[in-house]
Amino acid sequence: MKHFIIQLIFLGLISTSCMEQAGGRRVELLDNNWQFINEDIDGAELLDCNTDNWEIVTIPHDWAIKGPFDEDIDKQSGIIRQNNEKIATQKTGRTGALPHVGVGWYRKTFTVPDYTASKRVLLTFDGAMSQPQVFINGKKAGEWKNGYNYFYFDISQFVQAGDNLLAVRLENQPYSSRWYPGAGLYRKVQLIVKDEVSFKHWGHFITTPQVSNESATVNIRSNLNGKGVYVKTLIKDADGNIVARHQSEVSDGNEVEQTIVVQYPAIWDVDTPNLYYAELNLYKNGVLKDQETVRFGIRKIEYNADKGGFLLNDKVTKFKGVCLHHDLGPLGAAVNKAALKRQLTILKDMGCNAIRSSHNMPSLEQLELCDEMGFLFLAESFDEWKKPKMQNGYNLFFDEWAEKDVVNLVHATRNHPCIVMWSAGNEVPDQWGKEGVERARWLQDIFHREDPTRPVTVGMDQVEATMKSGFGAVMDIPGLNYRVHLYDEAYEKFPQGMLLGSETASTVSSRGFYRFPVKPIKDDYNASIAQKEAIYGDTYQCSSYDLEYCGWSNLPEDDFVLQDDKPWVIGEFVWTGFDYLGEPTPFDQFWPSRSSYFGICDLAGIPKDRYYLYRSRWNTEDETLHILPHWNWEGREGETTPVFVYTNYNSAELFVNGVSQGIQTKGKGKTLQHRYRLMWMDVKYEPGTIKVVAFDDNGKVVAEKEVHTAGKPHHIELSADRRNIHADGQDLAYVTVSVVDIDGNLCPYANHQLEFEVSGAGQFKAVCNGDATSLEMFHKPTMKAFNGQLVVTVQSMNETGDIQLKVKSEGLKTASITIKTK
Ligand code: GAL
Repeated sequence: MKHFIIQLIFLGLISTSCMEQAGGRRVELLDNNWQFINEDIDGAELLDCNTDNWEIVTIPHDWAIKGPFDEDIDKQSGIIRQNNEKIATQKTGRTGALPHVGVGWYRKTFTVPDYTASKRVLLTFDGAMSQPQVFINGKKAGEWKNGYNYFYFDISQFVQAGDNLLAVRLENQPYSSRWYPGAGLYRKVQLIVKDEVSFKHWGHFITTPQVSNESATVNIRSNLNGKGVYVKTLIKDADGNIVARHQSEVSDGNEVEQTIVVQYPAIWDVDTPNLYYAELNLYKNGVLKDQETVRFGIRKIEYNADKGGFLLNDKVTKFKGVCLHHDLGPLGAAVNKAALKRQLTILKDMGCNAIRSSHNMPSLEQLELCDEMGFLFLAESFDEWKKPKMQNGYNLFFDEWAEKDVVNLVHATRNHPCIVMWSAGNEVPDQWGKEGVERARWLQDIFHREDPTRPVTVGMDQVEATMKSGFGAVMDIPGLNYRVHLYDEAYEKFPQGMLLGSETASTVSSRGFYRFPVKPIKDDYNASIAQKEAIYGDTYQCSSYDLEYCGWSNLPEDDFVLQDDKPWVIGEFVWTGFDYLGEPTPFDQFWPSRSSYFGICDLAGIPKDRYYLYRSRWNTEDETLHILPHWNWEGREGETTPVFVYTNYNSAELFVNGVSQGIQTKGKGKTLQHRYRLMWMDVKYEPGTIKVVAFDDNGKVVAEKEVHTAGKPHHIELSADRRNIHADGQDLAYVTVSVVDIDGNLCPYANHQLEFEVSGAGQFKAVCNGDATSLEMFHKPTMKAFNGQLVVTVQSMNETGDIQLKVKSEGLKTASITIKTK
């Protein structure tokens, strides 16, 4: 053993970081000094002190995000029945064309200096992609299958005095995912040391069964190990003031229940996300054995068809939601709170109030942010049950693991006030047939058993089948994915009296790209490559006139009318808030497309035009007045070049070089689009200025906006989402880089190769231009602008000071920006 320990020291694996200590409990983040190898190894190699082939990494880590992109990675051939395909095709880039397939090993040493026989040592993972097998000192401590779920093992029996070797084996199969899943230990790993007499992991369940402005009842059920114990509880508000105290009875069982009243509570709501903290102290014979602080919110949720659907604190609230995959674009799947916060900040400004974690368990960081920022959350579990979508998908594990997965999902996340609904699945092929109905009931019962306070939905795409089989009638809330033509019938047939647009739109667009003539294009999933090229050309981009959609999906307005005209539709979750890696429909057979076109924002996080369409109806506080397209159409002089305006105002007048193109008013016009967009379809292009003047309902001019034909690229403009970030080695600033003309107008075709240099108290982290066909790597400090723009991400280090980012390109004046770290 001694030899083994010496080897570990030699390997440089020993480190500790970030400890907390309270009431005998110690939580240690295992984040740095991990070693990683992207191949399978045997036990001897695991213990081999030769580190040559191992890379030192920090967790969270995504081993595949540095690429390179390769069309042969997980090239998926066949018919996607779920998409109604009839002909087998070969899909490149469906899982992002990044090297996530294969085996990876991570290893690290840790010590447990406070270990004694009366202690319990837990190892917790917030997710590990995928099929993690965990070894302590060469012995298997446990395994999990689902790459997205939280899991933990009690490793007390494996731990020894001195140094211990933790190793994790992960494996991603080809044909196991429909999008880029990421690879590796992409979420946090922690070591918890606590007394044997202690709270169980995820042991607390805090609910607020009665809420009014005058008082709230807080119910806390705590699972624990120990007899003759009692819990002293302090409820604190966000400023740390104690607002209530309570001491439980002495317990000889393994659960303590407390009911505590909070007077005049600060209620959690999307506009006022007030939070409380329950400090739970576990005592035995007067000795503090364990302490945990659990954050929660006081809020009331109700689903009641007679009262108008979903009520948050007694107020009917519609879900103005988006679906999000877990990847963070150029950062891959490696979770980063600053990146998540930026996404939510952008969505909040759009007026979005809800997130669906499609199609899996969300990161805990995302839930924390939604609690803090005031988002409602639909937490999803599975994309597959027992019937396969992917040959190596979750179907292989469903029977043995589904219950365990649901239990962990609920236990790990149930105290987050943001979660208002569970989803047991997305478009599972089990929607067909009797067995599927039983499976739906079985899963829903597990959710109910573990959490009686929230309803359960499933995103259903086979709506006709679910009407016939009873599947849709089983779920607490029937969720419809697309199928707008079936809403009325489903409302009639299902007994719940309300429907949720659990997934909507799937409109596709590329930032800054416009196709002429301007007309709707419904993608034909059975078209040949040649037929598709005849429609789309060879740019593999979708038009930002926002009229292109998939064979199974629709345009935003098809959902808007349902939301607006059917009071029993309780809201929608648009597919998707941000572009994600993989699933490049409608170009999934066209290399080099490797990321989605569905996003309201592109992969770099830059809002596409569509952002303003949603903002114009969802953000009811601020003005939206957005003109598209750009006005640089050299070669199109005199040709019809429609102009659209997305605005919260009902009417506006458009001018081209001072000449009125007439007034457009919402609701006047033949198509659904006319109800929500102002569209001047006959504008003839001439360079110069387009100006829109908006009117209020009395015809008074209330706002104006102009777009100018840009001149030659002249310089680079930089703008950061945040100029002050934390000096914690994690925080990020996102700098949008725009190539502009001498007057600062965006040059909408600029595709300069840009170079980035970061100096001072930070480092270059990643770059992304939002072009779904770019094969440039995100971690290299150079990239082409896409339609004039891209976004550079810089990361702080553990030192305060200034970070300087310089952006250079031949022929353009170098630009620089300073970000402060504190
Ligand atoms: C849905 C599916 C999503 C995504 C989307 C694309 O049917 O649930 O995961 O594939 O289609 O339109």
